[in-house]
Amino acid sequence: MGHKKSRTTDGVALVAAARAARRRAHAPFSGFKVGAALECDDGTVVTGCNIENATYGLTICAERVAVFKAVSEGHRRFRRVAVVTGSLAPASPCGPCRQILWEFAGDIEVILANLRRETGRYRLKDLLPLPFDARVLER
Ligand code: THU
Repeated sequence: MGHKKSRTTDGVALVAAARAARRRAHAPFSGFKVGAALECDDGTVVTGCNIENATYGLTICAERVAVFKAVSEGHRRFRRVAVVTGSLAPASPCGPCRQILWEFAGDIEVILANLRRETGRYRLKDLLPLPFDARVLER
């Protein structure tokens, strides 16, 4: 039939997966729950949520949980990631998560959303200009 997905429905399932993952967040210290859904190039969706720790510093963000789960399960190529928070203002990945996403996923699309709606779409290279990565280490 050649049905083409419209811009408005494209990414909706990925955002829904991130919203579902957010409900599993362990965030008793900040109360700020985050969910991430990483789409692999074979279509597999691997999710993550933030998992806080009483030391605070050992907390791990939703995006990194998703990346590390995916890599540990053998996924190495990624298309995009959706990140969902409960905030009204758009919340984008923190600096360390941008770095980890860049190293494993490269210039993927980052879809941001809250519980009501999508709040923005960005290329990771625009969120992390002039990145430090393995190419810099080449001699
Ligand atoms: N958090 C994430 O999970 N992802 C981000 O990109 C930003 C922050 C988490 C960490 C902490 O559990 C809570 O949000 C408040 O900073």
